Amino acid sequence: MPRRCSLTFFFLATFVISPLTSVVGQQRPWSTMLPQELVELDLAARLRFDKNATTMASTDFGHLTQVLPAAVLYPSSVQDISTLVKSSFSSYLPFSIAARGQAHSLKGQVMAHNGVVIHMGSLNQTQEIRINVSSSPPNFYADVGGEQIWIDVLSATLRHGLSPPSWTDYLYLSVGGTLSNAGISGQTFLHGPQISNVYELDVVTGKGKIVTCSKQHNSKLFYAVLGGLGQFGIITRARIALHPAPQKVKWAHLLYKDFSAFTRDQEHLISSNNGEGFDYVEGSLIRDESDLDDWRSFFSEKDKEKIRSLLATNHLIYHIEATKYYDNVTAPTVDKKVDSLLKGLSFIPGFALKNDSSYVGFLNRVHDGELKLRRKGLWEVHHPWMNIFVPKSRISDFNEGVFKKIERNSTTGPVFVYPMNQNKWDERMSAVIPEEDVFYNVLFLRAAKNDWEYLEDQNKKILSFCVKAGIKAKEYLPHYTTKKGWKDHFGPKWSKFVERKKSFDPKGLLSPGQKIFTSMPWQRK
Ligand SMILES: Cc1cc2nc3c(=O)[nH]c(=O)nc-3n(C[C@H](O)[C@H](O)[C@H](O)COP(=O)(O)OP(=O)(O)OC[C@H]3O[C@@H](n4cnc5c(N)ncnc54)[C@H](O)[C@@H]3O)c2cc1C
Ligand SMILES: *[C@@H]1O[C@H](CO)[C@@H](O)[C@H](O)[C@H]1NC(C)=O
Ligand SMILES: *[C@@H]1O[C@H](CO)[C@@H](O)[C@H](O)[C@H]1NC(C)=O
Ligand SMILES: *[C@@H]1O[C@H](CO)[C@@H](O)[C@H](O)[C@H]1NC(C)=O
Ligand SMILES: *[C@@H]1O[C@H](CO)[C@@H](O)[C@H](O)[C@H]1NC(C)=O
Ligand SMILES: *[C@@H]1O[C@H](CO)[C@@H](O)[C@H](O)[C@H]1NC(C)=O
Ligand SMILES: *[C@@H]1O[C@H](CO)[C@@H](O)[C@H](O)[C@H]1NC(C)=O
Repeated sequence: MPRRCSLTFFFLATFVISPLTSVVGQQRPWSTMLPQELVELDLAARLRFDKNATTMASTDFGHLTQVLPAAVLYPSSVQDISTLVKSSFSSYLPFSIAARGQAHSLKGQVMAHNGVVIHMGSLNQTQEIRINVSSSPPNFYADVGGEQIWIDVLSATLRHGLSPPSWTDYLYLSVGGTLSNAGISGQTFLHGPQISNVYELDVVTGKGKIVTCSKQHNSKLFYAVLGGLGQFGIITRARIALHPAPQKVKWAHLLYKDFSAFTRDQEHLISSNNGEGFDYVEGSLIRDESDLDDWRSFFSEKDKEKIRSLLATNHLIYHIEATKYYDNVTAPTVDKKVDSLLKGLSFIPGFALKNDSSYVGFLNRVHDGELKLRRKGLWEVHHPWMNIFVPKSRISDFNEGVFKKIERNSTTGPVFVYPMNQNKWDERMSAVIPEEDVFYNVLFLRAAKNDWEYLEDQNKKILSFCVKAGIKAKEYLPHYTTKKGWKDHFGPKWSKFVERKKSFDPKGLLSPGQKIFTSMPWQRK
């Protein structure tokens, strides 16, 4: 590709003739090399080079890796972001740029070695919280800044009696960060991932252009960015679909000894659900006491006693969680409705527990767990998480090989297992899923205060088990260090992904921490 060659040449030439010692070293006076445009537009005033700022931007939730940027931008407008990207794009010496939402990445995806990290939350400081709700039917929606967190989106929309239909388990994640992945939870089977519930986006592309895109306009960019791992543009606004919000939820917990009964019932609950069934379905493993406490605390002491006696004779218990939404109009019939939905299911007799919760209390359930872990000093620890999508046809092999063998003695955080329907995903988007009608989200939420390497080994063992057994699983929140890894991950979508990169971020400036494109010097560590 001639363009790449000349660019690399340009870089090398500048590198060699530059009077400034090293482009890659830590000591070089990066700030005095600011492209003229940044200085003239006074963007320099919103760039910080001090250790406080760069150290903050060198971390993420995973606590497995640390990469220092040269600077952090605290943008006061979308224009600031565009100016920054343009200046890198047109510079002799491009620098990489990573949008930092809530930095709940796990493997450095939000970092930019020697580049500029954009502290997205700053967009929120100069004006009112950037959420505008349209409460006129038929198309309810919210225009939400890419930096906003879902808990704030929920509060803002509830004031209008509305709510996004599709969620993540945890709500302190940014809109831009989750839409760059997919955004999944127990509602995904019914409404699709969060990326399936977006009408329109404002994006700053890798050329610094501010573009509005949707299925109708600039659709290539729209599909690229959703699930695009930050590779094609920075999301500064998303128009999110809204539905009328329920007030309360009926929350059912069902326990199983038998894995095939557990999956059969889950698959039944997510099929032929024309709005009459449950609104949310997840599943998890119960291996010991820690799985009863942990993030989740829905079992009463009496229930726990009963479950302990089950655990005494069963190494592994499977747990389905399902909720039915209701409001004051449907309240009188909701119990009957839930009972009818539970009829014919194969949970252990006597182990269908029901409870009520407010809608917000239910959606924000993980936050209680967070506060608990924070109090114990177990939140800011290493998180070698693994999240994979396993095709339904092989989930029982996965149970045998992974839950019962590789993971048999490991309880370092909850394990979730729940199915989703492929037809709720849009294949034109960048997100990658297995090729099967139904697939399971399997999520190992691992945490370790000190040694975490052995947990990474567990992850590797699981992945190699899948390869050996011919289980065509796909990683969610993927991380690969080789081109082959990424090519295999994207499969038939790889060439389109590369083509999209050439169109929207031809110099490879954006989200270098994903390590997908590494041929340019500024993309490397
Ligand atoms: C406790 C916890 C719970 C989680 N629960 C769920 C869950 O239930 N469901 C689920 O789907 N995921 C879940 N995740 C994963 C989460 O969705 C991703 O890690 C997501 O990236 C987090 O958002 P963030 O704002 O922290 O993103 P960041 O870590 O800040 O960024 C992630 C990536 O997106 C890029 N990026 C950030 N903002 C933008 C933007 N505005 N435009 C373009 N690119 C951007 C970054 O450069 C980076 O490459 C969870 C993670 C944690 C730590
Ligand atoms: C960095 O943090 C320290 C300690 O909080 C503070 O004293 C110092 O002023 C900060 N420096 C800058 C440049 O913000
Ligand atoms: C919300 O509306 C205000 C006023 O019209 C506008 O300035 C702002 O950009 C909007 N925010 C979003 C995220 O669309
Ligand atoms: C934006 O500001 C509001 C009001 O101060 C705050 O509640 C909210 O959490 C902020 N959001 C982000 C993403 O910083
Ligand atoms: C129901 O919820 C309440 C409050 O959240 C809790 O105290 C109680 O233990 C729960 N009961 C059952 C049966 O789960
Ligand atoms: C039901 O709830 C709605 C919305 O909160 C409220 O406006 C209405 O008055 C309530 N109706 C009854 C019968 O309580
Ligand atoms: C798990 O622990 C049991 C009992 O301590 C032991 O017999 C078994 O070999 C262990 N399994 C694995 C896979 O480590």
